[in-house]
Amino acid sequence: MTVRSLLASAALAGLVALSTPALAQGVPGTDPLAATGRWSIPERAQARTPPMGWNSWNAFRTEVDEAKVVGAAKVLVDSGLAKLGYTYVNIDDGWWLKRRPSDGRLEIRTAIFPSAKVKDGDTSFRPYTDALHRMGLKAGIYTDIGRNACSQAYDLHSPNLPEGTTVEREVGLQGHVDQDIALYFQDWGFDYIKVDACGINVYGPETHIVREHGYRAVPPLIDQASINRTDVPAVRARYAEVAQALKAHNPDGDYVLAICNWGSADVRSWGKDVGHLWRTSGDITPTWTRMLHNFDSASTRALYAKPGAWNDPDILFIGHGEFDQNHLTEARSHFALWAMINAPLLISYDLRQAPPSLMDIWGAADIVRLNQDPGGHQGVIAYASDDVQIIVKTLAGGRKAVALFNRGLGKTDVTLTAAQLKFAADAPVQLKNLWDKTAPPPFTGETTFTLEPRQTLIFEATGTRQLRDGVYLSEIPGDVNVAVDGVVAPEPDPVVHRMRNAWGETRGSGERPTYAGWGGAQADATPYDQALRIGGQGFDTGIGVLANSRIEVRNTGHTRFEAQVGVDDSTRNTRDKVRFAVYGDGKLLAQTPPMGLGEAPRLLAADIRGVRLVEIVARSEAGASDLPLVVAWGDAALRR
Ligand code: GLA
Repeated sequence: MTVRSLLASAALAGLVALSTPALAQGVPGTDPLAATGRWSIPERAQARTPPMGWNSWNAFRTEVDEAKVVGAAKVLVDSGLAKLGYTYVNIDDGWWLKRRPSDGRLEIRTAIFPSAKVKDGDTSFRPYTDALHRMGLKAGIYTDIGRNACSQAYDLHSPNLPEGTTVEREVGLQGHVDQDIALYFQDWGFDYIKVDACGINVYGPETHIVREHGYRAVPPLIDQASINRTDVPAVRARYAEVAQALKAHNPDGDYVLAICNWGSADVRSWGKDVGHLWRTSGDITPTWTRMLHNFDSASTRALYAKPGAWNDPDILFIGHGEFDQNHLTEARSHFALWAMINAPLLISYDLRQAPPSLMDIWGAADIVRLNQDPGGHQGVIAYASDDVQIIVKTLAGGRKAVALFNRGLGKTDVTLTAAQLKFAADAPVQLKNLWDKTAPPPFTGETTFTLEPRQTLIFEATGTRQLRDGVYLSEIPGDVNVAVDGVVAPEPDPVVHRMRNAWGETRGSGERPTYAGWGGAQADATPYDQALRIGGQGFDTGIGVLANSRIEVRNTGHTRFEAQVGVDDSTRNTRDKVRFAVYGDGKLLAQTPPMGLGEAPRLLAADIRGVRLVEIVARSEAGASDLPLVVAWGDAALRR
């Protein structure tokens, strides 16, 4: 019997009499790789599926007013969109008048929100949120993590900028977290808050806004062009303080925190631990290539999203520019893509005059349903290229949704294989087109479609699962939490479409990768976007991650964990060795001896009967290193 099969059978028999080096077991509290037996993301009552609703920004910028917002709310209800799930009605930037100097209370611009004028010259959104709640809707508000908001820097000609002295115009959370959160949620009755980050980004001492517009200077915590010049712990701590205040003021958990720092400060890695959703990129614009950019910033982060915690590639821009009613192919693609990657579905259009062709897109019930699937599994890229992508999403109950996406300007043939769906190649696969409800004849093995430029075909797929007695971890990102991803030095992610400057200019030297997260854990790929490969053997499925990582997996009734593990052939660190270990509810179940580059994959298996939380840990024998050590959990699966 080989060491490998000995290990596997000992683990399977529940006889894990392996010696447990202190290093592998870890010391709780000090060792981030120590198994905890605990799902480390806070249990969240809200946003168990991606938030849906309406936001004022892409439709109106700061020219928002009560008639427009309540008008949108009415259409949501009357059209049936609210019933489909579009329930959050979110006011974005532009609502403030000022902060009252005497007691720091915020005042609403009643000229645009007349119902906010209440007795004694005070202002309150309570009449407005009461009205929304009576309609069966929920209410969202907008603020900034610093002293000043984005409009105060970027919308200088707006009639709706906060007024008064420097202090009166400081309407953001800085220095007022507890007071403002209590005001928004307890006094005013909001359910959702978007917290922007311009206040800690663009009000530096030498800026024209500070010099010419009398704002207080704030040394920036964020430098969007440099992760090394961004104070990641400080940015995270600011948002964590807000999360804490929200919890304190909403004991029933009825709130949503939307972090809006545009993918900066490595939020793509820690957003899940702090908020319900976090922007993964800069602002979307109504252009095809910017949509690609925003999509890419979230589509490669499947393992970081799950119920209560979502990647946010930004508000929908359907209805405008290259997604207007003359560009329905583009608009449908935008919608299908957002649905597939569990993005929030926030409409931003003047719904009082929405044409039926656009209402049909937002109202595509089958597509909304797959976005809102209770499993919460973000779609995973099954075929990656800059021209065509195939994205596959596991639905609760094991069915699949698949999108075939033509990113380019030419017509193209796209072949979909059963293997990409993780379905058996010798059994028929049935597709149902979710736009036109047609069902092409069942296929076995593979089938080919011709896609128009920029078209996305989106199907529900039924077939025989490749893994008949279980599920691959990469099929269930919603049940996987990357607790520690092993990234030592955050790096910008180069696999994000680099459109020309979002505002159309081509001055300067071009668009550079900016969003940290490169090197994070990946489903069915390595952290650096290579195919998984151990000792020359390729794996179509598995988890790619760096060494010194710990991944939590929820187990609902499976009895066996299994993976083919080893150092990935693509690693830059070719020297250090890694030990792979599996824990069940905090207890070591099985582990490998130290493994190095070039070694054949080893089967690591463990009996997980009755275990609720499986943790898989890859620990470098050499400790932390700046030289990334890529490992693969090939074919990692929960089985029965
Ligand atoms: C930033 C955000 C946008 C919007 C504006 C408001 O740019 O990213 O979504 O909220 O601010 O000024």
